[in-house]
Amino acid sequence: MQKIIVANWKMNLSLAQSLKLAREYKRLLKKTKHIVAVCPSEFALVGVKRILKNSKIKLGAQDVSSEPKGSHTGDVSAKTLAKIGCKYVIIGHSEKRAMGETCRMVNLKIKAVLKTKKLVPIICIGEGWDKRKSKKSILFITGQIRRALAGIKTKQQIIIAYEPIWAIGTGKVIKPDDAEKQHENIKKTVFKILGAKADFKVIYGGSVNDKNAKKLLSLDSVDGFLIGKTSLKAISFCKIANIS
Ligand code: PGA
Repeated sequence: MQKIIVANWKMNLSLAQSLKLAREYKRLLKKTKHIVAVCPSEFALVGVKRILKNSKIKLGAQDVSSEPKGSHTGDVSAKTLAKIGCKYVIIGHSEKRAMGETCRMVNLKIKAVLKTKKLVPIICIGEGWDKRKSKKSILFITGQIRRALAGIKTKQQIIIAYEPIWAIGTGKVIKPDDAEKQHENIKKTVFKILGAKADFKVIYGGSVNDKNAKKLLSLDSVDGFLIGKTSLKAISFCKIANIS
């Protein structure tokens, strides 16, 4: 089945390194049957887009402003990202939330992105270790989805990235049966909010690598991955994106 594999390069690469990695992706991903998207730093979006021309690899941004235009130093609007050629935008990554991004800000950013009618939001959710330990992860995640999608009625595609914070960059990956349970709950919740005809995918993120990817990707409820660290290594990332 076709899945979606998203690379999140975070703030790890220079412009030259980003362009080099994009070239390697392009060379190694000629035959992937999955949808692949790469999210470089904002300064590299235009350059990477140029390199990805004539490939099937899509472009994504790591963040977006909730505002359409104006005096917002350092921000980029959804409309500009769409014009550059982005298809996806990551919103509400736990690393942004840890720096103060609230559920309300996440909600406004999703609305701004959907307004373009061109961009697909990749909405990150996930519980910390405290919630997991006290068996409150399902309750917490359901609340996060409700707040992210408050007031939104859309038939456009959205992507939910389930990224348990305790698994991000730690080498601790979720167990397959646990992933299934969480993903099924997320799907049920999104259907309840957006209706039975909702168009969405639920992808997993958190220490995905070329050793644990195959099993997780084989699960029906896992529609793909959001990959950080492993996406910086072209061979390992492309091995995952080339899983048949
Ligand atoms: P990781 O990061 O793959 O390095 O755990 C995932 C993410 O933060 O999106």
